[in-house]
Amino acid sequence: MPKHLLIAANWKMNPAPAGFDTPDSPYRPRTDVDVVVFPTFLDLEKCIGAGLVTGGQWGDPKPSGAATGDISMAMLKDMGCSSVLCGHSERRKYHHEDNAFVAEQVQAALDVGLMPIACIGETEEERSAGKEKEIVQRQLSALPDGVTVIAYEPVWAIGTGKNATPEQVENMHAFIRTLRPSARLLYGGSLNEKNAQELLALRDVDGALVGGASLKAASFRGIIGVAGDLC
Ligand code: 13P
Repeated sequence: MPKHLLIAANWKMNPAPAGFDTPDSPYRPRTDVDVVVFPTFLDLEKCIGAGLVTGGQWGDPKPSGAATGDISMAMLKDMGCSSVLCGHSERRKYHHEDNAFVAEQVQAALDVGLMPIACIGETEEERSAGKEKEIVQRQLSALPDGVTVIAYEPVWAIGTGKNATPEQVENMHAFIRTLRPSARLLYGGSLNEKNAQELLALRDVDGALVGGASLKAASFRGIIGVAGDLC
């Protein structure tokens, strides 16, 4: 059965890649695959201006106030963003954002009309201890019911070049599906143009959240091409 995949480019703390705004840019919206880019806050405006479907990498649940250096979900929405990442493992690790805070972010995003992509996933130690499902279940159960997109990103696969195997991905996604049957489930973690086919074709994979490979237009084009063939 054809899929309708969502491919999200998380550029993290990097400039928008060369070619992001050219007429044939692979980051542009398409009819067969949903494509969303997540630039730094500094590049939001130019991505939105270039006609890309754009989201924020982070947003504060409060609409405004005394929070130096932060921006809010409401501000992202006002400037033309359509989506926001919540609970990325780099935020959980380096900024100590816990499940309760991520739940507040997701709810605030939903309230202002942004599509939150809630990120979950276990660390290497948690998987070695056989606790990956327990961790993922705990992260999931904290999320508001309205969340429609969940990204499973095992921490040990992020930026390591060591993607989870198709068996590991399908096993976890099928588990997540039983708990959140109506959410779209993205996989993230060293996904690239070479392994995209075997991962995106899995029954319970509805798309990908791509880091490193989304920074090279040619690699991202390859991923979008694979996704398009599956749709
Ligand atoms: P990599 O694709 O670089 O492993 O990053 C994944 C990620 O963290 C996307 O949010």
